Amino acid sequence: SLPVPSVQELAKKEGLHSIPERYIRRDGHKTTTTTTTPTTSTTPLIDLAKLVDPSSHSLELQKLHHACKHWGLFQLINHGVTESLANMRKQTVEFFDLPLSQKKRWAQKPGTLDGYGQAFVTSQEQKLDWNDMIFLRALPSHNRKLEFWPDNPEHFREALETYSEDMRQVAVSITRFITMSLGFKDQKFSEAFQDGRYEIRMNCYPPCPQPDLALGMVPHADMSGITLLVECGSQPGLQVLKDGDWVFVEPVDGAIVTFLGHITEIMSNGTYKAAEHRAVVNKSKERYSIVTFCYPDSSINIGPSKQLIQSGTPPLYKTIGTIEEYFQLFYNRKLETSFIDTLK
Ligand code: SIN
Ligand code: FE2
Repeated sequence: SLPVPSVQELAKKEGLHSIPERYIRRDGHKTTTTTTTPTTSTTPLIDLAKLVDPSSHSLELQKLHHACKHWGLFQLINHGVTESLANMRKQTVEFFDLPLSQKKRWAQKPGTLDGYGQAFVTSQEQKLDWNDMIFLRALPSHNRKLEFWPDNPEHFREALETYSEDMRQVAVSITRFITMSLGFKDQKFSEAFQDGRYEIRMNCYPPCPQPDLALGMVPHADMSGITLLVECGSQPGLQVLKDGDWVFVEPVDGAIVTFLGHITEIMSNGTYKAAEHRAVVNKSKERYSIVTFCYPDSSINIGPSKQLIQSGTPPLYKTIGTIEEYFQLFYNRKLETSFIDTLK
């Protein structure tokens, strides 16, 4: 059984005009979807084909540097992943469209990370996000908990297998250019994504009768190296904090929204910042996203890169150690503190 009710089921209730108290944000997280004029700034587009092509490489690398420094996020286009991406979108929507009794076959169990349900519910008082999700560890393959991998829709598992391999390729390529744009002399950081961890979270944000009172996902930055997000449709919902304003990340068909996570912020010694982001909801249409959290393997030491420190800059973050040690710190953190602040 699910620790908290399914939001999809809640949203289906006929004549639901007001949402339960547990979804109402009174903590200054007002979503202001109706009053915010998403400012003129649009999120940066980065073209992977242009990064690869010697004739356009240096200009595109400058754009990448700017995006990483000033946004912590960009939309990656011409990344070459089309078929598995389209397929994964289809499987994701079909999965959430199944009756609840079916989806419950893959429900989270107490103490498990993987499975269908709601993320990180630790108390009865905790405010809830207007979102249902399924979380699955995909790579390395020995991390998989296949008992939580849906076999309905029929081709879900194979779609996820192919999709996670493709996301690994994208992560290795884009981190190669991120290390270049930081001026690192070797590619160890990027190479560490070859055998890194890949965890996938699919989100469903049902229509919400009071979208200004709830949030699809509370503001946060990711603890990953990088995060690769794909929209399943054209319904906007993702917002990024840019110079104090929440800006919509407008869905670009086929683009992969790439977020820098805390690990990249730390490795760059703060030159690049992890993007603060959130999801808002709307009255009329559901939205789905597929999010891949990409982590390096244990071949690198997580801490400010020595190459940046040697040039005379003081380290702004602690050196933590391996990715395993980093995860330990994360799971033992105090929930009321900001994780990244404890690493400074
Ligand atoms: C996330 O922050 O992981 C998801 C946000 C979204 O679905 O837009
Ligand atoms: Fe996130």
